[in-house]
Amino acid sequence: MEERDIRRMVREAYGAMARGGGSCCGPADRSCCGPARREDAGARIGYREEELDSVPEGADLGLGCGNPVALASLREGETVLDLGSGPGLDCFLAAGRVGRGGRVIGVDMTPEMVERARENARRGGYDNVEFRLGEIENLPVADGSVDVVISNCVINLSPDKPRVFREAFRVLRPGGRLMVSDIVLEEELPEKVRESTAAYVACISGAVPKDDYLRMMEEAGFREAQVVEEASFPVDGMLEDSTVEALSAVPGLSREETAHLLRGVKSVTIQAIKGSGLES
Ligand SMILES: C[S@@+](CC[C@H](N)C(=O)[O-])C[C@H]1O[C@@H](n2cnc3c(N)ncnc32)[C@H](O)[C@@H]1O
Repeated sequence: MEERDIRRMVREAYGAMARGGGSCCGPADRSCCGPARREDAGARIGYREEELDSVPEGADLGLGCGNPVALASLREGETVLDLGSGPGLDCFLAAGRVGRGGRVIGVDMTPEMVERARENARRGGYDNVEFRLGEIENLPVADGSVDVVISNCVINLSPDKPRVFREAFRVLRPGGRLMVSDIVLEEELPEKVRESTAAYVACISGAVPKDDYLRMMEEAGFREAQVVEEASFPVDGMLEDSTVEALSAVPGLSREETAHLLRGVKSVTIQAIKGSGLES
């Protein structure tokens, strides 16, 4: 599939999610990249119940695969950029950490998501958060203007991941940090899964091996790229999961093959830094 078609497919699927009238891979209360129920999401991907309760209703659609804000050591006054901010959950959590003197910018290419996030910000009275419509491969953000880039379950969806990392590097100030949660693979996927649009939108088919992911970060200029958290897909009790639902749409993929391939799907949080430029 051409890059343009991938973007269109992803935008349509997440637009439907944002409108709440159906999703890429299940009904509106299901997630694409996370588990089916919100309470499971908290336990599985690292959000505390108090965190989820602190954000405006509708900011958490259970779309993430980690909690990058919890690991990013954000400080008062910092500027944070969230790549693929969706309905805004991580932006609102980051806003609390950086305080009124800090700033949070969310970028997303799906107009309905940006609208929903802006409405959530308005209802929650967040005046240090803004949402911009744009692609993470062409960030609408000035060079060297951001202290911390975060992202949650988005880069796997990009058809040009090296460019995403180059853009993140460009917008960070020297010494800035990157903290991303995402899906990576331990084993190559069968061709029928790689070609499945449902599995792509569900954050499986666009994922790459962990080493390739780390290499792309380093090639973009990042230093000290390392995995700080890693979790396997919980194969037990997977019947209810929307990822499994998406995979059930892949023609000819048996339950056993599904269980096998999900064992090789990992959710990771990776940190890296942009050097200060003063290193020898
Ligand atoms: C799985 S959701 C994650 C949303 C959010 N990070 C969260 O955890 O709730 C993926 C989001 O990334 C956005 N997205 C996907 N590819 C993108 C791209 N190339 N540029 C900008 N946004 C993108 C989608 O519109 C969607 O809102």
